[in-house]
Amino acid sequence: MPDPILLVEGGGGGSTVPVLILLVALAGFALAYFVVGPGRRKGPKRYADIPLAMRPYHSDEELETTGMERAMAWGVALATFAALFLPLYWLIEPTRIEGQVQAFYEQDVADGRIEYQNACAQCHGTNLEGGSAPHPDPDIDVAWPAPALDNIVARYEDSEVVLDVHDFITRTIERGRPGTPMPQFGVGFGGVYSDQQVSAIVTYILSVQTGEVPEPDAEAFVGRSGDDLFANHCATCHGFEGEGYVGPQLLNVFERYGWDPDDETSRETARAVVRHTIENGRAVPAATPMPAFDQVLTAEAIEEIIDHIESFQVTGGPRYGQVGGDPVPAADEDEES
Ligand code: HEC
Ligand code: HEC
Repeated sequence: MPDPILLVEGGGGGSTVPVLILLVALAGFALAYFVVGPGRRKGPKRYADIPLAMRPYHSDEELETTGMERAMAWGVALATFAALFLPLYWLIEPTRIEGQVQAFYEQDVADGRIEYQNACAQCHGTNLEGGSAPHPDPDIDVAWPAPALDNIVARYEDSEVVLDVHDFITRTIERGRPGTPMPQFGVGFGGVYSDQQVSAIVTYILSVQTGEVPEPDAEAFVGRSGDDLFANHCATCHGFEGEGYVGPQLLNVFERYGWDPDDETSRETARAVVRHTIENGRAVPAATPMPAFDQVLTAEAIEEIIDHIESFQVTGGPRYGQVGGDPVPAADEDEES
């Protein structure tokens, strides 16, 4: 890994050639100006006491010979300069710009790496491999997983909810994930990092992508109950009883999607919506999104979880899941539905 500082200097060095050309050209012109051009000293102050506009000018003869020749010589000199300097400049400039862009990029990666190690590594891992953080509720003794960031681009490649991963990462860092251990970092959202610093962190994260998303380990799910799987993957956000936390309560989620206990088709429809949500996740503007689990759980494990959710479905209760609000009142106490 080349030293980024050296690269910065290397990139900046690209501009010395045009600057040198310019300096030499300027020196040449200065010389010409004072030796033969209008800047040279004009002998004794012959006309010192005659106002400018009334001083005699060159004779016609002089104007048509030496005067004209001098003007033409200047023209030739300038044209030669333009003919030499401009193409040279044109040849060198793109390389110089490239060097500069590369230098800025390397500098961002270097800055971003430092900020990342300071502010993110304790949860997301020194090598962005992922980790965890304590649950914000001190009474809940379950670690909250902090996703791996070294494969975040690949993870969201085919996502139907995250369409622009660069923007997604930036917004997540700026705003944090309310209700989860992920803090906000953008100054505009009460954090400590300027746009520039956030952007450097994003550049760093994007520069170390492995592109590999591990397949869910099918073995690890064999024989595990839906209850257990729910507690491990869903309860941090939806509560251990499905009562809701950062995510909505799921106690009557089937009914929200049209379930009627007497109608088998409606049960299948509700299961399909829930399945689709679990597999693909949901974007929630400016709040904590529902993650996608299609790369985390096997299809069988997802069915186990849906069975478990179905097992605690009630009818009645609020139509919408409250996010982070009070747990849903027991169905029979609720008059609003
Ligand atoms: C205190 C622990 C903690 C710290 C510090 C922290 N994060 Fe997070 N981060 C989390 C957790 C937990 C999540 C998952 C939240 C959730 O479940 O939605 C998360 C989620 C994210 C996500 C979204 C990942 C995804 O796939 O949805 C990104 C991006 C992210 N963090 C970047 C950062 C960056 C960059 C920093 C440092 C500037 C940082 N985090 C610092 C705990 C942390
Ligand atoms: C990081 C937090 C988080 C985790 C973990 C999580 N969810 Fe969610 N979930 C949410 C949020 C937030 C929403 C609300 C999305 C919205 O408003 O559209 C949601 C919505 C849902 C919904 C739809 C609710 C409705 O009324 O439309 C279902 C079903 C669901 N989650 C199931 C699960 C299951 C099953 C798991 C575990 C495999 C899980 N969730 C894990 C945060 C989470």
